Amino acid sequence: MGKPRILSGVQPTGNLHLGNYLGAVRNWVELQSEYENFFCVVDLHAITVPHNPQSLAQDTQAVAALYLACGVDLRYSTIFIQSHVAAHSELAWLLNCFTPLNWLERMIQFKEKALKQGENVSVGLLDYPVLMAADILLYSADKVPVGEDQKQHLELTRDIAIRVNDKFGQPENPVLKVPDPLIQKAGARVMSLADGTKKMSKSDESELSRINLLDSPETIQKKIKKCKTDPVKGLWFDDPERPECHNLLTLYQLLSGQSRESVAAECREMGWGQFKPLLAETAIEALRPIQDKYQKIMADPGYLQSVLREGNHKANQAATATLERVREAAGFLPKT
Ligand code: AMP
Ligand code: TRP
Repeated sequence: MGKPRILSGVQPTGNLHLGNYLGAVRNWVELQSEYENFFCVVDLHAITVPHNPQSLAQDTQAVAALYLACGVDLRYSTIFIQSHVAAHSELAWLLNCFTPLNWLERMIQFKEKALKQGENVSVGLLDYPVLMAADILLYSADKVPVGEDQKQHLELTRDIAIRVNDKFGQPENPVLKVPDPLIQKAGARVMSLADGTKKMSKSDESELSRINLLDSPETIQKKIKKCKTDPVKGLWFDDPERPECHNLLTLYQLLSGQSRESVAAECREMGWGQFKPLLAETAIEALRPIQDKYQKIMADPGYLQSVLREGNHKANQAATATLERVREAAGFLPKT
């Protein structure tokens, strides 16, 4: 028996921010040696809302380079681009036909994003979770490490897999593997710097609401200086009246690599004037090695290209095997 499998992905909608890093990519890196990992840049998901064709290719490359810069190790992990493996679109179509419409209409993220889009809601936005299910199920992933916001999509993925197995498989011979979510407690929901009750998001209009992994030290300093706080002196976790305080302490804890207890003790008596520069310095130092590595990778485009070529080859092999199994189970004429 080989190692259990992991699959995860991030959309190439601009750069990665601290929520993506602390909620997802950092956990991939921590776990990777125990698993066989597939990490994709989900460019097909990025076009479910209006996108910029001038920057899509560049953003896709940048996210792949950031995976490497954050420590994804090719000894354990395969990095690839979702749209380069045609099986994702093909399985998504098959799953579309086995997924009840009302399962999708219930999705919280769809409702939220649809509200923002107004008149301009694409069929793709509704279908987004089915494509995500295809991403995961193609690789027979055992675990899917994501942030808290993806929990409902993973439950849907499980429901779709179970339904396909019920319709087309035998109990002793399932068609699809039913995956489990892997959501770490700390970092699963990094909140906006401008409002501690809203999650940090790429789609927030305000750049001040998030710290991007490639922000310069000056920008990080400025964003933290301007971030929302409260007039209370002394800092502690878990106070529902102080969401910003909880969020910023959690960021400090994760970026400094300390335990929650030691952060709680260190910051108990601190005021914001002392804490903010400390957090800024910690964030700058934590991101510096990632930024250095990113610059090196981007300076050698041939290297990134070869990583992606190899990744696409491996991903295609794994994905095609599953797609064939589903086609066969659903009764399609085999390809000649
Ligand atoms: P996205 O940027 O929507 O493609 O998200 C990529 C990954 O980052 C997913 O695993 C998300 O759950 C995770 N993620 C996005 N925003 C946050 C956040 N604010 N806090 C924690 N995880 C997040
Ligand atoms: N929907 C995920 C997000 O926005 C991104 C994603 C697409 C994904 N396919 C995936 C995450 C498969 C994990 C596994 O966060």
